Order: sequence, then structure tokens, then C-alpha cells
Amino acid sequence: MQLARRVQQLPPYLFAEISRKTAAKRAQGVDVISFGIGDPDLPTPPHVLEALKDAADNPANHRYPETDGLPELRQAMAAYYQRRHGVELDANKQIVPLIGSKEGIGHVSLCFIDPGDVALVPDPAYPVYAVGTMFAGGEVYPLPLEEERGFLPVLEAIPAAVADRARVLWINYPNNPTGAPATLDFFERVVHFARRHDIIVLHDLAYADVAYDGYVPPSFLEVPGATDVGIEFNSLSKTYNMTGWRVGMAAGNATMIDALTRVKSNLDSGIPQAIQQMAIAALSGPQDAITAHNVIYQRRRDRVVTALRAIGLTVEPPKASLYLWARLPEGERSIDFAGRLLDDTGVVVTPGIGYGARGEGYVRLSLTTPDDRIDEGLRRLASWRAAPAGG
Ligand SMILES: Cc1ncc(COP(=O)(O)O)c(C=O)c1O
Repeated sequence: MQLARRVQQLPPYLFAEISRKTAAKRAQGVDVISFGIGDPDLPTPPHVLEALKDAADNPANHRYPETDGLPELRQAMAAYYQRRHGVELDANKQIVPLIGSKEGIGHVSLCFIDPGDVALVPDPAYPVYAVGTMFAGGEVYPLPLEEERGFLPVLEAIPAAVADRARVLWINYPNNPTGAPATLDFFERVVHFARRHDIIVLHDLAYADVAYDGYVPPSFLEVPGATDVGIEFNSLSKTYNMTGWRVGMAAGNATMIDALTRVKSNLDSGIPQAIQQMAIAALSGPQDAITAHNVIYQRRRDRVVTALRAIGLTVEPPKASLYLWARLPEGERSIDFAGRLLDDTGVVVTPGIGYGARGEGYVRLSLTTPDDRIDEGLRRLASWRAAPAGG
């Protein structure tokens, strides 16, 4: 069978390979402990589930939803931006709900990228930015994220000819996989760069509310001029432990939101309405679950950091996100390290190379593993040597 080039060109999906290896280990009877995927183990808050139960009984919610969602949902999203970030948005023009932010992140390149156009994409990064670019026929120009630069891209290092050709710039803070935060000062420089080179900024704020030590992640939309040049992707997945329900949003520039809504209306029919009711309850109801889960993740963060340092990895406790980005001993390949760790201890971590060439030399650990499994995982790590056998 002849598959389309865009499918043939998909990079080998490293994460599928890890799932396959993990499943094979489990089939052999190994008790596998996974620090792999960033999917909260904590449940969706009870009042949000109640909203779903009520909404399920209402026949009005049994029909096709609108692509751009219920007006009440867009208003709840606008109210969240106002309350959380002090950003005023027109709920009818500057916000579109998404079927999880991944859906919008994947589709948005269809709005701004023509075949041959360049997208500036961080390396390492959440893989969907590059894949969405490729599906639209675009070219990825990687922006290295270096530890010594706080994992921020150096915009001045982008050759002028590339910057002038580029149509979009992807950024993501708090960052997956590095856990790095960004300052408003950095966002201001991004606006300036985008204006100078006529580039659309696509900011991914999936970890808006997963933060520690009192840190409050800012929105890109907080800086002056941001809504002239870009949009931001946001998600209820990690803020409200709602990964399974699939609700996100894009917010910002009205023309860009309109383009995304038009693309979406040709491809999907929006979020099921009963789930939109959950999202309204989550955004408008009590917010105390956010602090409660951050307390749990922060405690896990500190314990896992200590354990990783004890086996010779270099890692800083992140101020935000669900991830530890741990540097391996010099010369160790991430895929070898992760494979050896799984074979020796049954513990799964994600090789950094899965997030791009600049992820080599690192592994990512997610803090979404239940506490009793973390206890067991750390016990196994403590009796394991990080260095290769004989090394
Ligand atoms: C950086 C980043 N953006 C977006 C997403 C997608 O989240 P969702 O589709 O659940 O909103 C993820 C999920 O892990 C992520 O890590």
C-alpha cells in the first residue's frame, strides 16, 4: 500500500517504542514503574464530575455541538484569563475552545503555513509543533534550547534570512520537557522580534497552573502587543486533572482565532456539550484543587530530585511543569540509559532524544506517578548504579 509522503515522513515514534518495551516487560511479569507520560494520577475534582452527570441527562447535550463551543464556555475562559492573568479578551472573537490543546496545536499550522514556509520550533520540544508544521508542508528550523541559557531560545542567533522567511515562532513556558520558566521580559523580546520579522507567535501554556515554591507562571498575552502578533494555547488537562476529557483553548489575536475556528469547523464538530459543562464548572467553581495538587507534585519533585542526584544525574528542581529534566553523565546516550534502567530495575523514564536532537544527554521524568509507586521506584533506583556496567 502506498502511504502519503507526510505519513512516511513521520519520525519514528519513540514513545510508541517505549510503550511496546514496557508492555513486553509487563507481559514477562515485571512490575514496571513508569515516570514516562505526563498524565496526572490525581482525579478530576468532584464538582466537575457532578456537572457532567447533570449534563448527560439533558437531551440538548446529545446533539452536535458548535465548533466554537457554548457562549458560556467562551465566557468562562475569558473570565479565567481576566482573573488569573489580568488579560481582557473578547469571548466571541479572541477565544476558541479546543478538543484538548493538542488538537489546536496540530491544526494551527494549516492556518499559517503554506508548502515551503518556515516554522521556528524549539529543540527539544513537545513533538506536535514540528509534526503539525510538516503536515502543512512547512519546514522546521530548530531553535536550540540550552541549559546555560535557561532553556530560552536565543532569538538574536537566528540568521536574518531565516527570520525573514519564517512565518511562525513556537514557544512553550513553563516548558515541556525542560521544566524551564520564562519571564515577561523574554515575552516582550519575543513580541519585538515578531514585529520586526512579521512572524506569528504561537505560545503553548499547557502548564499554566502547575507551579511550585510560590511561582506563578505568566501568560504571553500579559505583555503589551502580544495579541497583535500571536495566540496562546491553554489547557484544562493539567490545571484541573482533566486529560481524559479533552478541553483546551486558543486565545489572543482575533484574526488568528477566526482562521483557526474556520479550519476546525471543516474538520471537527467541537467538544461534546456535556464535557463543555464540566469545563465551565472547572473554570468557574472552587480553585482549591490546583494548590492541593501542586503541594503533592512539589513533594514528589523534591524526593525524586534527591534520588536522581544520588545516582549521579544532574538535575535542578523546576519551578513549574510536571517534569524533571535530568542530565546524564558525560557521553551517555539517553536511549541506552533508559533501556538499561528499564532492564535492570523495571523503571521507565523518557529518553531526551525523543524531544529533538538537543534532548540527547537528558532523560525526562514525570511527577504524575502515584506516591506508593514513587516509593518503590526510588527504592529500586537507590540500589542501582547509573554508570554502565564496568564503567
Ligand atoms: C507542552 C504541551 N502542550 C500541549 C499538550 C497537550 O495537552 P492537551 O491536549 O491535553 O491539552 C501537552 C501534553 O502533554 C504538552 O506537554
